[in-house]
Amino acid sequence: MNDSIGWEAEADLVVIGGGVAGLSAATTASRHGLRVLTLSKGGPTDTSTQYAQGGIAVVAPDGDSVDAHLRDTLEAGAGLCDAAAVRAIVSGGPRAVAALTDLGAVFDLGRDGQVSRTREGGHSTRRIIHAGGDATGAEVQRALNAAGLPVLFGAAAADIVTGPDGVRGVIAVSERGLGVVHTPAVLLATGGLGQLYALSSNPPGATADGIALALRAGATVADLEFVQFHPTVLYTPGGRGRRPLISEAVRGEGATLVDAAGKSVMNGVHPRGDLAPRDVVSRAIARRMRARGVDHVYLDARAIADFAHRFPTITASCRAVGIDPAVDLIPVAPAAHYQCGGVITDAGGRTEIAGLYAAGEVARTGLHGANRLGSNSLLEGLVVGERAGAAAVERRGVRARVTEIPALAREYADRGELQQHMTTHAAVVRDGDGLALARKAIDAAATTLTHGMFTGAATEDTVARRISALEDAALTLTARALLTAAALRTESRGCHTRSDYPTQEGRLRQSLPIRLNRDGKPQLVAARPPAAPRS
Ligand code: FAD
Ligand code: SIN
Repeated sequence: MNDSIGWEAEADLVVIGGGVAGLSAATTASRHGLRVLTLSKGGPTDTSTQYAQGGIAVVAPDGDSVDAHLRDTLEAGAGLCDAAAVRAIVSGGPRAVAALTDLGAVFDLGRDGQVSRTREGGHSTRRIIHAGGDATGAEVQRALNAAGLPVLFGAAAADIVTGPDGVRGVIAVSERGLGVVHTPAVLLATGGLGQLYALSSNPPGATADGIALALRAGATVADLEFVQFHPTVLYTPGGRGRRPLISEAVRGEGATLVDAAGKSVMNGVHPRGDLAPRDVVSRAIARRMRARGVDHVYLDARAIADFAHRFPTITASCRAVGIDPAVDLIPVAPAAHYQCGGVITDAGGRTEIAGLYAAGEVARTGLHGANRLGSNSLLEGLVVGERAGAAAVERRGVRARVTEIPALAREYADRGELQQHMTTHAAVVRDGDGLALARKAIDAAATTLTHGMFTGAATEDTVARRISALEDAALTLTARALLTAAALRTESRGCHTRSDYPTQEGRLRQSLPIRLNRDGKPQLVAARPPAAPRS
């Protein structure tokens, strides 16, 4: 083994990520007797899970059914959901929530003593359970963290090593230097890619690491072009980076979107009005902002009784910038929120590579299609996380050793520049020229990281620099894959809106699988692109 290695370990399963998907998987795999090592590049609450507000979509015992939840999910997904995967995941909801409750999670109750349920865009009924009013994710994360599983915090996975028999191990960067974990099974649970954009609801660690790890390991991704922009993050002039979310549940409780003249944004746009699916609402806001030449609209939540009690997190975020939702309109704008696509898996988290699993936001199970239905993500993390943890048992006893350390050299572009190109050309509304411009600019800006950067003594500063460099490279590769897919999808569907191809095309009612070619460039897996560009 190379002498640049600072530490070695062995495990039956390495889980990369300490959010809802990773910890659900780790809990289950440990119960099955696997030796599980969980790596998390941040701390215990540096996850998107921690910030989730609205809740968990789970079929209600009365006036609801798996079929109804399935129908709503398929409708939001605009023709690209895998109905069998949707059914499998939606059906698993009640049991997964019961398991979480067994771990100590506490959900809000109504006056009748039953679990309280709210509504969000695209849902035909009130089926979303929540905790702490609008702090559902914090409660989910708290309960999973309290299970006390061993997690190596501050350790970032840099590469997955595979051989003819599948996964052999993980290369990681931590305060102990470059490390190798020999393991026959790896679960990617690395969360999303919000940091591809200048404005996002996501925490700083949402840098698409899992997409890059999977692509470099030879796996296939799909549906990356479907980035969901949440219609309502809190707008402040000049704000960048992570923006506080104003949950869709606020509209579920009766708030409405208006422009500066007080005119409704959603009237006449969709039969569900302010509770239309998210892509519809984000597009309507973007259109209104363009028409009025402004960069935000408003949410009028003044009619909601006892707003501060129902939405304490949102109230605190608003008050921090001098807004009182009980008397003021809340300025809001769309921001990057969720990656609907990801690493292709079945509904049990298996990828095409033996021993490589993915769950949570990084995975593309077929649940979300072209646009995720609100609050289906925590559900997916719980259900598929648990199933992937159980599936990894099939790799028990497979002998796996990393015998050679792969070079960690890879290309990266400056993060700020990349975010600007993606925000300008690949956000709510795109076109072919803009996508090509973004790709060209990112390619021109890219330089190469050297392997030497990751070796040698690791002070706190060098570890932070190394992790940040890995993130920049992951963002760069993922941006290229996303732009490739978005350019090929010459239609408008779900959260992919092309101003040059405004309609849906029947022949594109399919996912576009992307893999790296021999030169490390993302390309469509099919021999011929399904979309013949319009003349
Ligand atoms: P995360 O919870 O993001 O966890 C990712 C983990 O991976 C982290 O521990 C991170 O440190 C680690 N990691 C990443 N890269 C590496 C690496 N290279 N090496 C080691 N570790 C790594 N969904 C709902 O269903 N309902 C909601 O109400 C809701 N509200 C939301 C509100 C906000 C503000 C946001 C941002 C999202 C919301 N979502 C909601 C979406 C949902 O929260 C996320 O999709 C979900 O929590 C993702 O869980 P995850 O386990 O896949 O990833
Ligand atoms: C929200 O509370 O609006 C976010 C819900 C989600 O992203 O599922």
